[in-house]
Amino acid sequence: MKAFNDLGDFSDEEIQALVSLASRLDQHPEPDALKGKVLSLLFLSPSLRTLASFQAAMTRLGGGSFVISPDMSIHGLETRPGIVMDGAAAEHIREAVPVIASYGDAIGIRAFAERKSLEHDMAEVEFKSMTDLIDTPYINMESAMGHPCQNLADWKTMDDFNVPANGGKFVLSWAYHPKALPLAVPASTLYTAARRGMDVTVLQPEGFELPEAIVSRSRQAAEAAGGSLRESYDRTEALEGAHIVYAKSWSSTQHYGDRLADQKLRTGLEDWCVDEDWFDNAAEDCRFMHCLPVRRGVVVSERVLDGPRSIVIHEARNRMLAQMAVLHQMLGGQS
Ligand code: CP
Repeated sequence: MKAFNDLGDFSDEEIQALVSLASRLDQHPEPDALKGKVLSLLFLSPSLRTLASFQAAMTRLGGGSFVISPDMSIHGLETRPGIVMDGAAAEHIREAVPVIASYGDAIGIRAFAERKSLEHDMAEVEFKSMTDLIDTPYINMESAMGHPCQNLADWKTMDDFNVPANGGKFVLSWAYHPKALPLAVPASTLYTAARRGMDVTVLQPEGFELPEAIVSRSRQAAEAAGGSLRESYDRTEALEGAHIVYAKSWSSTQHYGDRLADQKLRTGLEDWCVDEDWFDNAAEDCRFMHCLPVRRGVVVSERVLDGPRSIVIHEARNRMLAQMAVLHQMLGGQS
């Protein structure tokens, strides 16, 4: 495997093989599988889970890793192309990325969306500008529009809880958050549920529709896999019979990059906080998922998050297992 960038690059069999390998590595540890291998980790955006789970994954497989981020004692990283570097930053990613990559056998890169231009972010300009600089195998640790490690962990999580693929009802719901957040998780989660063949509903308030290209790609994937995709503004009907409620806040496509207009649109939507009554007409065993971090009492109530429906901790642990599977395949772990 030369890149782990998008579940769309993999067949159903390949995804299932990764999920199975993740489970196998949990049940039958392979502490020497990646002995002597090094993973370079470049975090241009903050993290708890991704940072910790990649380091834990490499250690559990017998390899090592190192982390570089702008908060560390480095020279200040410039990311803008064509810039005269007479400001604070003394190093450009054009040198930093190949140097960091050259110290490892694979590199993980995290760079959130700039959220100035939707077109720019949809084209993954910043992420590609970095991966184009290297021949080293790479892993997308969250880019402008993708979070494949989260997606693989979420797929495994639904398998672990016997959530039906065909016939399973997946509701991706917008939730309130005081800030405009990136589209990477909702966009790639929508595609993941669709690829799994589920009947997917995107539940959102007016003005928070996801970009058409994202919705139509996922709709095609759902239909090809025997599922469906629709959008809804009606919470009661959208949640009826749901097996999964996956909450996430995201920024308005209408006002992409316009913080004040986005803020105005979300004002008054504070009741989009997932609470027990959201599950009144859901399937009896409906589960609550969220990629974390999550704001308690804002995105979801404490009673849901701490209650039996919530599988967010299992989901977060699966990040480590899913990434162990990816690293095992990418770095040639002996089965
Ligand atoms: N879900 C996730 O990617 O978490 P972090 O941002 O903490 O890495």
